[in-house]
Amino acid sequence: MGNAKAAVFASGTGSNFKAIVESPSLACDIALLVCDQPTAPVIDLARQHGVPVLLVDPRDYPSKAAFETVILQKLADDHVDWIFLAGYMRLIGPVLLNEWEGRIINIHPSLLPAFPGKDGIGDAFRAGVTETGVTIHYVDQGVDTGAIIAQEAVQIFPDDTQDTLKKRIQAVEHRLYPKVIHQLVSRT
Ligand code: GAR
Repeated sequence: MGNAKAAVFASGTGSNFKAIVESPSLACDIALLVCDQPTAPVIDLARQHGVPVLLVDPRDYPSKAAFETVILQKLADDHVDWIFLAGYMRLIGPVLLNEWEGRIINIHPSLLPAFPGKDGIGDAFRAGVTETGVTIHYVDQGVDTGAIIAQEAVQIFPDDTQDTLKKRIQAVEHRLYPKVIHQLVSRT
């Protein structure tokens, strides 16, 4: 039996995509990048790594359901087993969730349930807390609300800027996400 197949969904830079795809011990194959932003740097990263890209711009579809149906069909055609969200800045709707709940994982740069949403790092920094972190969780219909799989804390130091904090959080993300993916796919 071959490795499980995974699709990564990403909207932007793709540093987590890179960490996942370059991990030497992932125990699954990254068979597809799904990207919703035509100019996202992650698209080039995927091409450099020989990962096929499904670029789907929501503006090209009459509804979210129509947009997600195209993704759903591609995942079926490619026999994908897992979806890993890595900076995919869009809520997963019912069309994808009905079929995929339990097999969609997300990474978020805070200790959820604290600081959900689009700017978990900035929100924690501005709140003046001394500890934040990284959460990996199952995706449900909410914004960063699904059952938590793994968390790791990151201290915020008095001399941190948002930029130095972001670097430390992302270093944790790049180590933790491939490790958790390995654990998840190895036990199924
Ligand atoms: C990551 O820090 C990820 O945790 C965050 O987006 C960033 C994407 O960076 N995701 C969320 O905020 C989800 N709510 P990347 O494109 O360099 O991987």
